[in-house]
Amino acid sequence: MKAIISNNYGSISNLHLSLDFPRPASIPKKEILVKTECVALSPGDCRVLSGACKEMQGPPSFPYIPGGDLCGTVLDLNGHDPEILGYDVGDRVATRFTRNRDALAEYCTVSTVMTGKVPANLSSSDAAALASSATIALSLSKRITPEERVLVIGAGGGVGSHLLQFLKLKSVKFLAAATHDCERMSKDPFHLDALLDYTNTDIYEFSNWQNVGVDEQFDTVVDLSGGSWLHFLDQIKLPENERVARMIVKPSSKKGRYLTLVPDVYNFEIHTVWQGMKLFLFQNLFRAFYSRFFRRNRLPAHTFAMSLDNDLDIMKETLKLASEKKILACVDDRGPFEFSTDGVQAAFEVQKSRKVKGKVIVQVSDQTNVNPQSR
Ligand SMILES: NC(=O)c1ccc[n+]([C@@H]2O[C@H](COP(=O)([O-])OP(=O)(O)OC[C@H]3O[C@@H](n4cnc5c(N)ncnc54)[C@H](OP(=O)(O)O)[C@@H]3O)[C@@H](O)[C@H]2O)c1
Repeated sequence: MKAIISNNYGSISNLHLSLDFPRPASIPKKEILVKTECVALSPGDCRVLSGACKEMQGPPSFPYIPGGDLCGTVLDLNGHDPEILGYDVGDRVATRFTRNRDALAEYCTVSTVMTGKVPANLSSSDAAALASSATIALSLSKRITPEERVLVIGAGGGVGSHLLQFLKLKSVKFLAAATHDCERMSKDPFHLDALLDYTNTDIYEFSNWQNVGVDEQFDTVVDLSGGSWLHFLDQIKLPENERVARMIVKPSSKKGRYLTLVPDVYNFEIHTVWQGMKLFLFQNLFRAFYSRFFRRNRLPAHTFAMSLDNDLDIMKETLKLASEKKILACVDDRGPFEFSTDGVQAAFEVQKSRKVKGKVIVQVSDQTNVNPQSR
């Protein structure tokens, strides 16, 4: 089969198209076989390729096939009951990665846990775009109430573009974003209450937000970019009057919150279990405690969103809301990229740039007409 492969960790230039890569030899017990139509890239795909977390997230061997989120057509249910799964052979499905690899190939086995039937009115490109980022965004949005005044940092990417729409859908009181692309965020489907460009404005100065119509500190800052917490830690060293005037978010004692799913550094490296626990568990537990008890009058309550929904219900709800046109799948208009060496390398360059307009899509094949004889 055709597949994009890499023989090593490192540069995007390692990625190339193989014309005769072996098809999956068998289907693992909890998986099904699909013919891939579209793959959506994610920051994790770049991280796996870079080798920054190779001991934790790396492929078991080389060459490996990158990519994890996809939309494709079911070829083999591997003995699973179609009544329970909600789809059958020949149906289009969207799936969220379980291992950040194997998707950029004509055929792929995917876990049934996060695989849902795609409604007929959604394109395969849209379905792939929604599979991971929008499901994460929907579960994150469930942690925010309509009474909150929310700022999203890292707004234009896969998670942010969909999170903003879910927050609009639940009519949060006030919704703002820090983005390099204010023009995109001022149009459909966003139309936010306030915007600042972090490339030319200090988004951690409240007076700059006042200049664009924000008259009260935010209740909640959602950080999808990483590093905002370090700015807040710097600001709490300021004299009280100055700090109160400059902070963009309310302190924990006034129900201010900081919600994130990223470490301080976007391109983090993890090579041991201890490093992983330090970064994702101990540091966040300490910050949660510190901000709620020792610095509750200065810092917002720190929450690292660890336990987001990871089940079929969240996938079904996401695809339903998109099929009812309540949210739009955000696909970067520089794609869909070709399923070729040049096409996939270009797609990875866009993803790696961190200036993504929603999701970066690679078109692997067109919609399949499944003939069971040809399986
Ligand atoms: N824990 C989980 O389960 C989970 C799941 C999914 C994602 N994540 C993580 O969540 C994060 C966001 O994911 P994503 O898929 O949305 O990433 P993405 O598509 O790469 O988007 C990242 C966004 O960050 C913004 N950005 C870049 N540089 C910035 C800067 N200097 N200051 C402020 N914002 C900046 C950009 O927004 P603008 O275009 O608006 O400038 C960009 O689009 C990633 O770190 C990812 O690994 C975690």
